[in-house]
Amino acid sequence: MADRWRAAAAAGAVLAAGAALWIGSREPLPGTPPPGARERPGFAIFTRACARCHGQDGVSDRASRMAREPVSLVDPVWKTGIARAKIAEIVRHGTGKMEGLGDKLSDAEIDAVAGYVVWLPAPHDTRAAR
Ligand code: HEC
Repeated sequence: MADRWRAAAAAGAVLAAGAALWIGSREPLPGTPPPGARERPGFAIFTRACARCHGQDGVSDRASRMAREPVSLVDPVWKTGIARAKIAEIVRHGTGKMEGLGDKLSDAEIDAVAGYVVWLPAPHDTRAAR
């Protein structure tokens, strides 16, 4: 019996730690990075600061559940010429249900992660393979 309580207490501590750590959480991240992702500048920042909501592939439904509408970072709108600046602005100041991360990331990190999102290919896009 005591063992069972100890196990429950340990599980509770793990959950509390997980809730407190929004960045650097050890929870498995949703999605799989597309081929070539690990070599891109911005990959590490995206993995640390974005993937738990947006998925490593940019299309996790977690952000969509929060926003109550589809959210996709591989939508063509994020691949245009002005996208990088727009994404940087969103990361810095937030949008809708997403809080800004301007106090957690440096300007250089924000620029790098915005460039990464512009690159991030849709799952069946062949750009990554080239
Ligand atoms: C805590 C969860 C969370 C984290 C962390 C997060 N986002 Fe978001 N993001 C969201 C949600 C939710 C939305 C949709 C906001 C809305 O429309 O209400 C969103 C929207 C966006 C959008 C606009 C998408 C659209 O279709 O309008 C971009 C671009 C974006 N996020 C990029 C990023 C990047 C890059 C990072 C990491 C630096 C990041 N986000 C971190 C939850 C998150």
